[in-house]
Order: sequence, then C-alpha cells, then structure tokens
Amino acid sequence: MKDSKITDCQLINLPKISNRAGNITPVSGTIDIPFEINRVYYLYDIPGGAERGGHAHIELQQLIVAASGSFDVHLDDGQSQKIISLNRPYYGLLIVPGIWRELHNFSSGSICLVLASHHYDESDYIRDFKQFKKLKNNA
Ligand code: TYD
Repeated sequence: MKDSKITDCQLINLPKISNRAGNITPVSGTIDIPFEINRVYYLYDIPGGAERGGHAHIELQQLIVAASGSFDVHLDDGQSQKIISLNRPYYGLLIVPGIWRELHNFSSGSICLVLASHHYDESDYIRDFKQFKKLKNNA
C-alpha cells in the first residue's frame, strides 16, 4: 500500500467553457488530470442518508466530480482525516492510491461522476478499515 498522504489529494479547477446556452467542462486524461482515463462511472438515484465508498485502492487513481448537486468526501490516509465538500461540476477531487474514502450527505438528485485510471478490479480494493490501517503502518 502506497505511503500516500491526504495532502497528495487535490482539488482540481477544471476548464469551463461558458456561453449563453450553458457550460461545458472537458476533462482530458494526462492534460487536466495526471492519469489516462480508462473508465468512467457515475452514481445516481442515491437515497437520502446513503453512504458510499468505504474503501481504499491499491493502484487506482480517481477524479471525483459533483456533476450535479453536492456531497461530502471524507478522506483518511491512516493518520489524518479531511472532509471535502464538492458542489460544482468544474471542480474535481483527485484521490491518489492508498487513501480511504467515504462519501456522505448526497443532496437530492445529485450525480457523482468518477473518472478512473484503471478498469474495474475487485483485487485493487481494500474494504476493511483495520486492514487498511495495518497496510499503511507497514508502508
Ligand atoms: P463500489 O466501488 O464499492 O461502490 P461505491 O464505492 O460507490 O460505494 O462498487 C459497488 C458495486 O458495484 C460492487 O459490487 C462492484 C460493482 N462495480 C463494478 O462492477 N464496476 C465498477 O466499475 C464499479 C465502480 C463498481
């Protein structure tokens, strides 16, 4: 497990192209974010009070965007914690490998867009917080 820190995760101000008919935010892999995009997924129809995440990744990098509405992302690197509120479609939270994350406080109708560096691979997940802490302490 990488010895990454919360400070390695950053809020990225994405490009925004505006005109009278609305806005476009393009995200180009390796240009706007530091990885090639191999997968896109989005969370929607999230019931009130639901919590998502609750895991860390060994290799996966992700950019998390509140494409609509808002939610909070709790980050934990095994030593420090931080809560980042996402509520604008032109800000993306870069989460590096080795960071535990939980998503809470989804607003009604919100959409969480995720750009990911790798295809889905369950063996890249750490879903047990105790195991996560152990792996971080031995990093
Ligand atoms: P998970 O990543 O745990 O969701 P979240 O972090 O948003 O709470 O995934 C939930 C389920 O969906 C799990 O059974 C794996 C499956 N899944 C895929 O099959 N492919 C994917 O790309 C993703 C993100 C999840």
